[in-house]
Amino acid sequence: MLISKNGPQTQPKPPVLLPPVESGNEMCGEDPAAPNTQTLIREIRELAAQKKAVILAHNYQPGAIQEAAHHVGDSLALALAANKPEYERIVFCGVHFMAEAAKVLNPDKTVLFPHKAAGCSLADSISLESLEEWKERYPDHTVVTYINSPAEVKALSDICCTSANAVSVVRSVKNDKILFTPDRNLGAWVARQVPEKQVVIYDGACPSHDVLRGVNVKKTQEAHPDAVLIAHPECREDILALAHEICSTAAMVDRVAKYPHTKTFLVATESGILHQMKKAWPDRQFIMADGCVGCRLHCPYMKMITLADLKRALVEDIHQIEVPPDVAAGARLALERMMAVPRD
Ligand code: 13P
Repeated sequence: MLISKNGPQTQPKPPVLLPPVESGNEMCGEDPAAPNTQTLIREIRELAAQKKAVILAHNYQPGAIQEAAHHVGDSLALALAANKPEYERIVFCGVHFMAEAAKVLNPDKTVLFPHKAAGCSLADSISLESLEEWKERYPDHTVVTYINSPAEVKALSDICCTSANAVSVVRSVKNDKILFTPDRNLGAWVARQVPEKQVVIYDGACPSHDVLRGVNVKKTQEAHPDAVLIAHPECREDILALAHEICSTAAMVDRVAKYPHTKTFLVATESGILHQMKKAWPDRQFIMADGCVGCRLHCPYMKMITLADLKRALVEDIHQIEVPPDVAAGARLALERMMAVPRD
């Protein structure tokens, strides 16, 4: 404060400069490029080699976890990657149903899940009891269940699918009557691609996708009129109607190749995907489709695992996933049928 002849004077306040807005995963977890992170990643890789472990990470994981992993991918790629005989241990960096599916497919291997609390709201939206109730209502329907579901629900289903092959899975089913669970947005999108089938859709949703609203996406599009919008099929129908491409997370990275002259892409899925997109296409710009710092398109469960958790999982062999053998047998059948169907 200045004191002048006329009494105290207040200095004009300097403008408040906000930190530059980063769109997406840089906001979450450790900085993958920091020297201490790099050291930790090297230690984790050495431990994994000693313990004959493969580290799998989903595309939504924090960037540092993706850098530590041997394989990063979508749900289908990771289910397939888990199926290799040379490893004794699988460390799954994702959410619980993913690690559980890896155990179902590899009952003789140790499957480690570094953070016990990393669940999935979509998978939690369906239970054994609720599927039994829906099956009673639609007894002559074939049950197609998204991989984002608990093992006991998979065991009660005829076949599983992922976002990468959901349309092909539904087409592959002989029955014209389908009960699709648990994601209503994915189910509705699949039903639109396969009009020859009668698809009854369960009422679950992924909150990280379902919160996205068309008005926000349109505003982002107005700010970037030449941008291509790539959306995950777990988004609502009005978002998908605006999208140029609708596909699984792994396919999102590849679809950029279709647009060699496009500089800017709007991305409608969980913000973790930006790590792989930016890595694969450093000369392009990727912006979250809500125009926000990935704050709506953010799954808190996917961001729980830290490098310290991953290291501890390898050192202490924790937390081991177990699935009761009868449940695993039924779930395995539904997953193996799914893996036999190619990507859409
Ligand atoms: P992908 O199989 O497309 O990676 O999707 C997984 C998922 O959980 C989407 O919410």
